[in-house]
Amino acid sequence: MGIGPGALEHLTPKARQAIETADVVIGYRTYIKLIQPIIASNAEVISGFMGQEVERARAAVAKALENKHVAVISSGDPGVYGMAGVVLEVAAHEKADVPIKIIPGVTAATAAAAALGAPLVGDFAVVSLSDLLTPWELIEKRLHAAAKADFVIVLYNPQSQGRKEPLARAHQILLQYRSCDTPVGIVKAVGRDGEKVIITTLRSMLDYEIDMSTTIVVGNSTTRVINERMVTSRGYNIRER
Ligand SMILES: C[S@@+](CC[C@H](N)C(=O)[O-])C[C@H]1O[C@@H](n2cnc3c(N)ncnc32)[C@H](O)[C@@H]1O
Repeated sequence: MGIGPGALEHLTPKARQAIETADVVIGYRTYIKLIQPIIASNAEVISGFMGQEVERARAAVAKALENKHVAVISSGDPGVYGMAGVVLEVAAHEKADVPIKIIPGVTAATAAAAALGAPLVGDFAVVSLSDLLTPWELIEKRLHAAAKADFVIVLYNPQSQGRKEPLARAHQILLQYRSCDTPVGIVKAVGRDGEKVIITTLRSMLDYEIDMSTTIVVGNSTTRVINERMVTSRGYNIRER
């Protein structure tokens, strides 16, 4: 299930109920900490590190086969770079006949968009800059295609302390198709302590602090800054009554 981008107020009632009533709660330890207050005191908690997704999915299937109600936690939405896919794959691989429900959540992309204004009101593409599971050549190909097609582009997993090159390369690709003045939103830790929202331009986007808890929204040719909010025009005629 998806717990939303951070604060418990972004958790849907359905996800909250599933966590509160779970016998076993499984998730990356940072996310477990965020929802700790609503985990039942007698529930078993299995937490782990980033990169141990397959192990967590296997643990979830094993517990479900013991007839336990298991809640597997993803930040945002579980079907958007989350645990939903790997749990379904592992259950099928292990021929485990267990009921699996996917409970959606508020994504970092939509929460970041709300904090910025309304940049995603038209077609947009989400690209993760992590090459852990996707070859970098394919990521570049997708960036070229999305930029060329004038999609608003949401960048996930933009950069970490030791991994700055992918964002620099993505920036160079975007500049091939978009004006330097294109509005860019940088949203760090949306819905969490330390939330930071910045609206800048494609020219200056690399001048800001960007880490793995940051979502970047790159506007398209119709995105403007209106009253300090980032807004993409959908094409409505607002002049005539
Ligand atoms: C593996 S993806 C998970 C996406 C998540 N399942 C979703 O639906 O939004 C992780 C990336 O999401 C973005 N992200 C997750 N939580 C965020 C938050 N609270 N604020 C800003 N970006 C966030 C960051 O770009 C981070 O590197």
